[in-house]
Amino acid sequence: MKNIKTRRTIRKYTQQPIPDELLNQLLEDASRTQTMGNLQLYSVIVTRSEEMKARLAPLHFNQPMVTQAPVVLTVCADFRRTTDWCTSRDAMPGYDNLLSYQNAATDALLYTQTFCNLAEDAGLGICFLGTTVYMTQGITEVLRLPKLVVPVATLTVGWPAEEPALTDRLTLESFVHNETYQPYTEERINAFYAPKEALPENKAFVEANHKATLAQVFTDCRYTKADNEAMSASLMQTLVAQGFLSPADTILPVIQESRPEVLECDVVRFQNNREKWVAFVGLHEGKPYEIFTGLMDDDEGILLPKSVSKGCIVKHISDNGQKRYDFQFVNKRGYKTTVEGLSEKFNPEYWNYAKLISGVLRYRMPIDHVISLVSSLELDSDHINSWTTGVVRALKRYLPDAQPEEEA
Ligand SMILES: Cc1cc2nc3c(=O)[nH]c(=O)nc-3n(C[C@H](O)[C@H](O)[C@H](O)COP(=O)(O)O)c2cc1C
Repeated sequence: MKNIKTRRTIRKYTQQPIPDELLNQLLEDASRTQTMGNLQLYSVIVTRSEEMKARLAPLHFNQPMVTQAPVVLTVCADFRRTTDWCTSRDAMPGYDNLLSYQNAATDALLYTQTFCNLAEDAGLGICFLGTTVYMTQGITEVLRLPKLVVPVATLTVGWPAEEPALTDRLTLESFVHNETYQPYTEERINAFYAPKEALPENKAFVEANHKATLAQVFTDCRYTKADNEAMSASLMQTLVAQGFLSPADTILPVIQESRPEVLECDVVRFQNNREKWVAFVGLHEGKPYEIFTGLMDDDEGILLPKSVSKGCIVKHISDNGQKRYDFQFVNKRGYKTTVEGLSEKFNPEYWNYAKLISGVLRYRMPIDHVISLVSSLELDSDHINSWTTGVVRALKRYLPDAQPEEEA
């Protein structure tokens, strides 16, 4: 590069078009970059039309560069072409796996960076859009990417209409390790990050986001755990849909299909139409596995000391195959007490809904999805609707970030 020391991201472009010859020259020259086995496991989709830019824009969270830049490039990890070449040459391809995706993504990113260097040398301005890997499914559809092709990088390219200030960088010693990895002590972290934290623009950033530290701006606002997890799941789905992973490769939770005889259980009390109700949430490896709910009632329902918040649910199968679930707890004086036949104590209507919910829990649908499923049930009577509210409340405590809740 002519001058790497002054390179910066450009997000505003003039109206001047990029001639085809120049763009093609850059795209061709960038292919001199190194790739695995010299297979060039990438493809580039060139977007110039307003219509296609408008379709891509929302998939990049409407960052204005997408519609403003004369050219948008989507660089894809591509094992399709190589696979087709192999099958047409009596060769058996084996590239529908995670390693092949990683190799193709590496080739695609190396190509992308080489293109950036060449384009910036030619006086063009570039912005790399990481949003590509957040919204792979939508981009795949819009660009009609076939199997074994996944978008990994987007560049907006145009003639610069701005000259933004240079951004800071961490010092050499903060990221170079001689011979072996040097742990980051608190002292070293302080030394490496203090200059960044002291920059007026970063101080303003902290203030504008009402945060105490710059790191919190990243964790709480820009790149949050919840977003990362949701987008990881979506990326995983794309890798399955595009044939780089099979559903069996995805890390699915271990499902316990046959119910263990004894399950630990939480007792959650809630109001249902001014009546006192109780939910017994059977747990497997700390995750909700089944739910029983019923009226707390002296005559017909369940009578439990107030202090009982935990116990276990024991499943019995009688000789004639009839199932029964008992709740067992240890009372304050240390005596084991059993409430027999949980299911018999419940109104069959609730019991049936609870059975369905238990089925969903057992197959480990993420708890937030179970909650929205239960909340969206449209049922006839007020009674059952307020029951679903109680069930939702009982389940909310198992959300990954749930705060402990006061019981009703
Ligand atoms: C993986 C990656 C994702 C990025 N995503 C975006 C983006 O979505 N929007 C944007 O404006 N800039 C994006 N950038 C550009 C960075 O914000 C920029 O490189 C960084 O702030 C340093 O600034 P500089 O390139 O001007 O030195 C991305 C860069 C990389 C490497």
